[in-house]
Amino acid sequence: MTQDVSLAVRKLFPGAGQSAYLDVASRGLLPESSLAVAQEHLMARVLGRADKARYFELVELARSRFAQLIGAGAAEVAITKNVSEGLNIIATAIEWQPGDEVIVCSTLEHPNNLYPWRNLERLGVRVVDIPDVLGVMPIDAMIARLAPKVRVVALSATTFRPGFRTDLERIGRACRAHGALLVVDAAQTVGITHVDVAAQHIDMLAASTQKGLCSLYGMGFLYMREAVAERMTPTALARFGVDIEKTHEADYDPGPIRFRRAALRFDVGNYNFLAANLTAHAMAIILEQGTHAIDAHVSSLAARLVAALRAQGIEPMMHEAATLANIVCVDVSQPATKSQPDRLYAFMKSRNVIAALRGRYLRFSLHFYNNADDVDAAATVLGDFRRAPD
Ligand SMILES: Cc1ncc(COP(=O)(O)O)c(C=O)c1O
Repeated sequence: MTQDVSLAVRKLFPGAGQSAYLDVASRGLLPESSLAVAQEHLMARVLGRADKARYFELVELARSRFAQLIGAGAAEVAITKNVSEGLNIIATAIEWQPGDEVIVCSTLEHPNNLYPWRNLERLGVRVVDIPDVLGVMPIDAMIARLAPKVRVVALSATTFRPGFRTDLERIGRACRAHGALLVVDAAQTVGITHVDVAAQHIDMLAASTQKGLCSLYGMGFLYMREAVAERMTPTALARFGVDIEKTHEADYDPGPIRFRRAALRFDVGNYNFLAANLTAHAMAIILEQGTHAIDAHVSSLAARLVAALRAQGIEPMMHEAATLANIVCVDVSQPATKSQPDRLYAFMKSRNVIAALRGRYLRFSLHFYNNADDVDAAATVLGDFRRAPD
């Protein structure tokens, strides 16, 4: 049985007590303990006492905790700076032939999971765009479209809007059977909803650290399944991607180039050591709760939000064929929100409810530090706005 998220978690994140913070899909809260970690890290630089060997240990700690989080081996994880870098590394490591195909659903993807594939059109690669089904990833149509020329299916595990969950296991199984690679944009997923790269047949996955991983901007992870990574040639290569006998980072071996094992070949130059430190720190908190528990927690809060919004006469973007994760959107073009997104947003802010406005989508997004009061407050504020005189 899955354990519940500990009530003590919320106290680790003082931002959660300041407002109804429902904007993890833009950026997550950091635990207060990050301050001491950062202070110690920076003080060592201030005093000229930075320890490079310790820095590398922090990177390996972050790598191994991320691997643990998604059920991967540490050698299957490269360190990147964000999601788009991870996706571009994948797109440029595959040996494409003219006529090869990549399947996407452009209406649901963030542009950063579209441009890396569109950029391959100059090599004769065809990006096959499959329409969404009422905001849901068109898994059936994608599976039906699989063919020998399809090399990659690229999709988000949870879309950035409207925020429904993709059935990774089903598409993953079909991709594996057809010899296509499943590439997952996990920007909205890691640290929040449960990911198991083996059970879900994921070949590659790109993530960043500022949302569900409760850390800084400017760091990311790229998972690549070992058997796949071993066949790949990195486009960008530096010392950390090369396997040589010598051990110092400035050592060079003029002999034939041997790439490091699996995804390690994609590490390039020096790392964002501060971000690695803070990310490793936050991931310890996440791992202690476990993503099964966090997933169950946010999914039940999302379902509560849907019900609470409906009780206020606001229709959220949700229907039978969709599966909730940690995101609930409201189409602000509906009359109940008075078609005044900016005024609504300002009203919410004045009532201490933090969410995101993305075009006609008002997006609420949750993490393990949120509770029922947060979602009830959000629904109440929307109801009050609806009833307020114009
Ligand atoms: C699904 C998704 N992909 C990618 C990104 C951003 O990519 P990057 O980390 O490269 O800026 C976001 C949001 O920031 C996102 O929601």
